[in-house]
Amino acid sequence: MIFVTGGAGFIGSNFILNWMKNNDESILNIDKLTYAGNLSSLQTVEKNKNYHFSQTDITDHDGIAQLFETFKPRAVLNFAAESHVDRSIHGPSDFIQTNIVGTFTLLDCAKRYWVTLEGEAKINFRFVHVSTDEVYGSLELEDPAFNEKTPYAPNSPYSASKAASDHLVRAYYHTYGLPVITTNCSNNYGPFQFPEKLIPLVIHNALMEKPLPIYGDGANVRDWLYVGDHCDAIVAILLDGRLGETYNIGGENEKRNIQVVDAICEHLDTLRPRANGKSYKELKTFVKDRPGHDKRYAIDATKIKKELDWQPKETFNSGLKRTIEWYLENFLWVDNIVSGEYKTWVVKNYKDKSI
Ligand code: NAD
Ligand code: TYD
Repeated sequence: MIFVTGGAGFIGSNFILNWMKNNDESILNIDKLTYAGNLSSLQTVEKNKNYHFSQTDITDHDGIAQLFETFKPRAVLNFAAESHVDRSIHGPSDFIQTNIVGTFTLLDCAKRYWVTLEGEAKINFRFVHVSTDEVYGSLELEDPAFNEKTPYAPNSPYSASKAASDHLVRAYYHTYGLPVITTNCSNNYGPFQFPEKLIPLVIHNALMEKPLPIYGDGANVRDWLYVGDHCDAIVAILLDGRLGETYNIGGENEKRNIQVVDAICEHLDTLRPRANGKSYKELKTFVKDRPGHDKRYAIDATKIKKELDWQPKETFNSGLKRTIEWYLENFLWVDNIVSGEYKTWVVKNYKDKSI
């Protein structure tokens, strides 16, 4: 069995769905079910005999230790996190708890369990920590892309908490020999992403005829990767990644935010034209910038490509089209989510951005 923490979130649920399609090995999904966790994303596998779920907080030491004792996993994939930069600005405390204390708790329980293993079971155990390129800070337009040797320089409470968790993972390798690997991935997009993040938010707002909020001048650059390609990279790392190493994962798809919004509008103009015959681009609205907004992220993925023969399958255009088609077909999934807490969040985040 493998443990997947945060499996009810965006990337974790995509990972579980992909894994169950291609593997017979069982998964225990360990998720606290915060606002970002949705078991409805996993409806198609919930009755599969290889799928198990435990509603447990990764900061709960006794609860996590009990799961190790009961299920005896051969690997832990740690996706669980508070993941939204804007939320970390409004309320950093949950980020410190889950991302730092939670990762520490998992590491500590994994280590206590791992030292009891023997032979092949001990040699083959893996702790894969899923992290972000945001730990490297912000690039100028002319800077080379982040590689695995780029010094950490996080700028938001989110990225600082992820950086801290990466350091703890590293320390457990060097101090205790726990067989860990860390991944630092660029911005993901695809099915089941919570509509607080740029791409699903713009798709949802466009379909609701609401303004499409663009922070600042829209010139900030992100390096976009289709979520399925990220999941394939994690499988490759679990299989053949070198212990104690970090791997950067990215699509080499650098886009300014304004280009992303325009591309979504163009796809929607074709796939779901507006009743008034105008382009969705007319809904674009420039709003007050995010404080400390990182200018540019870009990933140099040479290491994973060379060592593990990984390549993204989707281009930005093909992945974005697939994603928009998914949101059009799964409007109910989004509709269920954008009630309650989401409404409160939208008011909080955009009220001083004047839309
Ligand atoms: P998400 O916010 O969609 O999902 C996070 C999941 O973790 C949710 O199901 C939530 O319920 C769960 N969770 C939160 N706190 C928990 C706790 N204390 N105990 C147990 N479960 C808890 O996040 P995501 O976008 O799927 O990101 C997954 C991981 O990938 C994160 O570690 C994130 O830092 C990293 N990452 C994300 C991106 C991206 O673009 N989304 C890019 C690179 C790396
Ligand atoms: P986001 O999806 O929040 O990811 P991250 O901050 O982790 O990169 O944002 C992606 C980019 O889009 C980022 O530069 C901020 C910008 N953005 C907007 O312009 N408007 C929005 O409403 C949101 C949510 C993000």
